[in-house]
Formats: sequence, structure tokens, C-alpha cells
Amino acid sequence: MPRPSFACVHCGHSAPKRLGRCPACGEWNCFEPDAAPPSDPAGWGVARERARPLAEVPQSAEERFSSGSLELDRVLGGGFVRGSAVLVGGDPGVGKSTLLLQAANRVAEAGGTVLYLTGEESAAQVAMRGRRVGARSPRLLVATGTSLPGFAAEVAAHGPDLVVVDSIQTVAVPEVPSIPGSLAQVRECAARLTAAAKTGRHALALIGHVTKEGSVAGPRTLEHLVDAVLYLEGDRVQDYRLLRGVKNRFGSTGEVGIFEMTAGGLADVGNPSRYFLSRTANALPGVAVTPALVGTRTILVDVQALTARSGFGTPARRATGVDATRLAVLLAVLEKRAGLHVSGEDVFVATAGGVRLEEPSADLAVALAVASAFLDRPFPRDTAVAGEIGLGGEIRPCGPMEGRVEEAARLGFRRILVPAPGPRAGSGIEVVPVATVDEALERLEPRRTE
Ligand code: TYD
Ligand code: MG
Repeated sequence: MPRPSFACVHCGHSAPKRLGRCPACGEWNCFEPDAAPPSDPAGWGVARERARPLAEVPQSAEERFSSGSLELDRVLGGGFVRGSAVLVGGDPGVGKSTLLLQAANRVAEAGGTVLYLTGEESAAQVAMRGRRVGARSPRLLVATGTSLPGFAAEVAAHGPDLVVVDSIQTVAVPEVPSIPGSLAQVRECAARLTAAAKTGRHALALIGHVTKEGSVAGPRTLEHLVDAVLYLEGDRVQDYRLLRGVKNRFGSTGEVGIFEMTAGGLADVGNPSRYFLSRTANALPGVAVTPALVGTRTILVDVQALTARSGFGTPARRATGVDATRLAVLLAVLEKRAGLHVSGEDVFVATAGGVRLEEPSADLAVALAVASAFLDRPFPRDTAVAGEIGLGGEIRPCGPMEGRVEEAARLGFRRILVPAPGPRAGSGIEVVPVATVDEALERLEPRRTE
């Protein structure tokens, strides 16, 4: 590769021609011919920038632009960053292409140029998805193929602000003998694309399928190469999708974006607590609500249960969104400590939307939903609950409660049961510390007589 012959006098950023503004440090009219390329007697490969005192290196202001979605921006840490690479991983079919095609269109509508490079689908297929999500911007360009050098030429020709590669498993460079999707190809292509983003002015988004066990060329092998890693999760039957940030050089990790898959693409879920609450006005038996931490966010989630006398053999136990082993423990606690004879019942538990509750603080809601279904006595609709349940039926403290109390109050709940001693009363909500499952069960309403 011929060495670029111009360099920024401020930061040493090199370019093949004299640029008006340095893309790395943002200074104007700062390009001079790069007179003395460093020699490379040891054959290490030529360093991109000459060594200089750290104190003289100007800080480059990171240049961000919005993805057009509040939820995606939140997980990105405020938007796409020029010169950086983000990897978006997820199972096939979860909605990665949809998410990025929508973002690509919004960036283009805001005046940016976007290149959507795909080896997954034909341009006609991308156009079909584009029609569904209303992508019509003339600055959204799509190129298909599997050759990385071919894509590099497109990037050079259009000088985009955002480049999407869908997917990293379908591109290849001719120098590497193995097939696209192999570990060697995926690594080499990702390394080159990331390096090109670093020297260029565009933000790069790589899509990566989470591959099945046994295949190693999935997104995990690329996490160290890129600046940010986001995983899109959700299952095919439920409409909601969670986008989790697991690494972010430019923002905090643990951020979660929440979307709903609609007929017109992914829509931001602006008020997740409302989304994960079922909309029944009257209290029904078998429902309890808990404020759960999903990533860094507190979300109120409905836990629903159904019990029915088991016909024969081992009773069935099915859990969606709740750990099955945890459910078995809670059923044993209800049987032994609260005297509810659930051992002969089929028990089904599900969270609204199928959202996964991973914290022990969901125990109390699960136990109350099951007890409520079994006794056919509704749990008050104006009361939320949070607490871990010990094997003795005691309610144990579990993590900070203040945020949970606040979210319940914000959504209009009048009361919340928490592990003793509990936080001080929140504004506009009664905080009730409970010590045992029995105490919580006393709150069940009387059986309906209709
Ligand atoms: P896709 O983005 O192709 O998933 P991935 O790139 O992760 O493999 O989207 C997958 C599913 O989303 C597909 O089964 C259809 C559904 N979908 C909608 O429900 N609404 C839409 O507007 C679009 C574009 C897709
Ligand atoms: Mg796809």
C-alpha cells in the first residue's frame, strides 16, 4: 500500500491528499506534505503516527450523531461516534437488520450519507424491508456483495457518515483462503473494517449473528476489536426486544434499549413499565406486579400464574421469564412454610411480554401470583411487591429499593411491599415492610363470589 503523503501538523493524522479539515482532531487547514516517512528496518510494519510527547497530543472531541431512536441512542451512549465501530449481535431473525436499516434511514433523513453493505440479502430484499419501515431517503445507499475490497471501494466513492455491514459473517477478503463466516475471515474483515473506520470519518456498525454452539466465528470473537458491543434479544413469539450494551468505550455499559417489533419495524418503547403491565382494570386472581431491574432500568413487570389440579403422574411446571428451578423452590416454600398444598397442582408462571426476571427480588411476586391463583383470591391491583424469599419463608433484603419504590409510585401504585426494614416512605406511596411470606399473603383479597 503506498504511504499517504499528507499529514496533519497537529495530530499526525495522515491522508492521501490535503484535507480542509482534519477528521481526527478537527483542526482546519493543517495538512502538510509528510516529508519523511519513518523507515522500518525491523520490518514491523510502518507506524501510523510518529511517536511524540503525550502532552502534545490534542484531545479529539468525539463527534457523535443521533441514530434517530432514543432507545438506540441510549445504548450507544448518545449516538454513533465517528471513527468508531459498534457490533450489533443477536440470534438470526431477532431484528438486527431492521434495527440498523431504520437507523440508517434516519441518519440519512437527518442529512447524512449512509452506506448499507449487505452480503446477506439481495438489494431487492433490503428494499422490501425498507418499504416496510418507511426507508425512503435518497442518501441511504445500498450495495450488495461479499467482497470486502468491493465494499471498500464503495466507501471511498461515497464518503459516508455511517457504514452498516450486514453481516460480518458474509464478507471476505481474497488473501484469506477460508470461506466467509470462518473465524479467520471474520477476524480479518472486522479488523480491516474497524481500522478503516478509525482513519476515516464514518461510524461503522457491524451486524453479527450469534452462531450456534460449535461454531466459533460469532460476535464474541470480535468483542475486543470494536469500541462498543450491543446484543439484541427477544424471542420470536413475543414482540418486545431488548438491546443491551455489554461493552462501550464511549458510554456506560448495562444500558438497555427497549423496542417493540411492529408491522412497520422496531418502535421505541417509551414507557416500558406500562408496556409490561397487562391492562386489566379489575384485580384478577394469579397476578402480582414487581419492579424489576432490567440492565440499569427499573421496570414494572406483571407476573402471572395459573394452577390446576394435576391429572396424573408428575405435575407440570412451566415457567416463562422466570427460572424453573427458582419456581420449584418457591413452590416448596409455599407448601411447607405457608401451608398451601400446591405440590399436586400443575403450575404455570409467565411474565408479561415474556421479559426475563433474573433477580431474586422477583421471588415475592412469583410466590404471590401462584398463591393468588391457587386460592382464587386476587392480589390488590394497587400494590407492587419486591423481595427475595428465603427457604424459611422469610423475606430477605435484595439490592437497593429506592428506585423500585419510585417507579411504582410514578406508575400510580398506592402501596409496595418490601423486605424489612425497607426504605422510608416514598412520595405518594405507602411502603410496607414484610418479614415473611405469610405476612404478604394476608394482603390477598377475599375470594370472589359471583
Ligand atoms: P430481521 O431484521 O431480518 O432480523 P435479523 O437481521 O436479526 O435476522 O427481522 C426479522 C423478523 O422481524 C422477521 O421475521 C420479520 C419481522 N419484522 C416485522 O415484524 N416487522 C417489520 O417491519 C420487519 C422489517 C420485520
Ligand atoms: Mg438480517
